[in-house]
Amino acid sequence: MSLVSEKSLIGLEGKVALVTGGGAGIGLAIAEILAKAGMRLAVAEIDPARAGEARARLKSLGCDCLVVEADVRNADDVKRLISEVETAFGSLDVLVNNVGDYLGFKNEFVESDESQWDALYAVNLLHMFHVTKAAIPLIRKGGKGGSIINVSTVEAFRGIPLTVVYSAFKAAITGFTQSLAVELGQHGIRVNAIAPETTNTAQIVATSRVPPENRAHLERWFPIGRFGEGADSAGAALYLASDVLSGWVTGQTVVVDGGALTAGAWMRMIDDKWTHLPVIASDGYTPRT
Ligand SMILES: NC(=O)c1ccc[n+]([C@@H]2O[C@H](COP(=O)([O-])OP(=O)(O)OC[C@H]3O[C@@H](n4cnc5c(N)ncnc54)[C@H](O)[C@@H]3O)[C@@H](O)[C@H]2O)c1
Repeated sequence: MSLVSEKSLIGLEGKVALVTGGGAGIGLAIAEILAKAGMRLAVAEIDPARAGEARARLKSLGCDCLVVEADVRNADDVKRLISEVETAFGSLDVLVNNVGDYLGFKNEFVESDESQWDALYAVNLLHMFHVTKAAIPLIRKGGKGGSIINVSTVEAFRGIPLTVVYSAFKAAITGFTQSLAVELGQHGIRVNAIAPETTNTAQIVATSRVPPENRAHLERWFPIGRFGEGADSAGAALYLASDVLSGWVTGQTVVVDGGALTAGAWMRMIDDKWTHLPVIASDGYTPRT
């Protein structure tokens, strides 16, 4: 059963989506799957080379697409972005707020400073406010409901050392998602989130950061024993984008993590015995030298 032949079951054909940070990683994977479902696509991307690659990739899928070079942290860029989307497509059905980054900051909270907090706020939360506020009138203009999807992280739901402020802003996405869902339900607009675990992308090159001697143990770390790929989060986004598939789901977060959150620290050791006291010094996230 190909995705293309099942477009009518998904109900997104001809509708319009905007994906922020859609030039690489999870954002590009989401843009691709929505294009394959027959959507018209707008992508906002800060990096000109990635914008060009996304444009070529979406066009090769036969997608009617608009790729806008923009910094979604910046209110003026967002105004221009939404205006270009309106000119190209008239209205908007699905917004994916995908941009987010820990910006390479890995230090204890007591060592962090206000310039880090400001930078992490801008790239993880502020842009969601700018883009969502600007996009809501365009979604309402369509008069057909709509879906807003915010990309969070599993770290919004568990503690993570050395990345405290990143996880705090990601946890705030849960509150934004829930409360906006309550406000916008009356207009038929659903608001949900996706929370991935470590996923191979441009930002996190997870597998290659695991020392070769530990790679065979990857299958023991999460119940579904591998790191995530962009396509894993893209599947969740497709579900949340579609009123046919998730029309009565709002204010929720889909955790895309291979079962990591559910397992807590539980994992299988080399002898297949279970432990919650792991000893493997790698996480796919922190470069080890
Ligand atoms: N990769 C992971 O392990 C992982 C895990 C949990 C959550 N996430 C979340 O998933 C989302 C995507 O992460 P990713 O790993 O795919 O990132 P990525 O860095 O690989 O891709 C993000 C894209 O957004 C673009 N971008 C960055 N800042 C921008 C801005 N201000 N305006 C416009 N475009 C901008 C980048 O150029 C890049 O193309 C983020 O919100 C991230 O926090 C990722």
